[in-house]
Amino acid sequence: MKRLSTHIGLDMKEDDRFRNVAIAAAKEAGRIQKLRFGRSLQVEYKGEINPVTEVDTLCDQAIARVILDAFPGHDLLTEESAFKNKGSPWRWIIDPLDGTTNYLHGYPCFCVSIGLEAEGEMKLGVVYDPVHDELFLSEKGRGAYLNGKRLFVSSEKNLGRSFLSTGFPYDVREHSDLYLRYFRQFIVKSFAIRRPGSAAIDLCYVAAGRFDGFWELKLHPWDLAAGTLMIMEAGGKATDFKGRPMSLDAGETLVSNGLIHDQMLEAIREIEKETGR
Ligand code: IPD
Ligand code: CA
Ligand code: CA
Repeated sequence: MKRLSTHIGLDMKEDDRFRNVAIAAAKEAGRIQKLRFGRSLQVEYKGEINPVTEVDTLCDQAIARVILDAFPGHDLLTEESAFKNKGSPWRWIIDPLDGTTNYLHGYPCFCVSIGLEAEGEMKLGVVYDPVHDELFLSEKGRGAYLNGKRLFVSSEKNLGRSFLSTGFPYDVREHSDLYLRYFRQFIVKSFAIRRPGSAAIDLCYVAAGRFDGFWELKLHPWDLAAGTLMIMEAGGKATDFKGRPMSLDAGETLVSNGLIHDQMLEAIREIEKETGR
């Protein structure tokens, strides 16, 4: 593996470029999303209930163009294209449109999510929600921000008073009993649950203290990369369902303000005892 030319975090100019390019790419995708929102769209289906629209593709292409113009040697992992691995220590992890089902139905909850990893460690995350013009930004060791304002997770200590969110993977028709078991557990143990339909927004909302916690199974690195860094930098916690530090491809996501994390893990343990999962 190639060595990094500079240590990110020490080279201000390079960090500024990464941040500026990530924001420019996110804003360009957001512009495309806003422009076409509510119009009739060409749709294809990756699975029975897993749509991909022309806007997913357009955003994917626009983001790749902005990033590769600036950093032609970097690697890209995006939801909608397969880029050849160049062996770069830098990898951009991109969900060009998170919340496609919402987008397709004119439901205004979707975003673009862009994370930058250096030698396997998340360094930068940008999530842009063009409907509300909310730009979430996190940089390793430098905090998380919403439109320039520092973000902190909530201070709720009690799961029974906690406002949670979740989502369901696209194979919900095959595994509905299991997914609903988690939902049933948390709906009786929390204050309330929402299912917004954009995992990247869910994660940012935990970072912003709007939600106290979130769980979902089978999310992908592009759903998680930027939002997870946002939570860590806002003082929260991200693990798998056993409480181990979260990896982007673990398939189990549990994030919270940190204070209710053990209570959420305990609730999950009860299900696992019962289902033998
Ligand atoms: C989906 C959304 C949704 C979550 C799904 C994701 P997509 O991403 O984040 O909230 O429940 O698991 O796959 O397909 O809209 O990019
Ligand atoms: Ca997604
Ligand atoms: Ca997507």
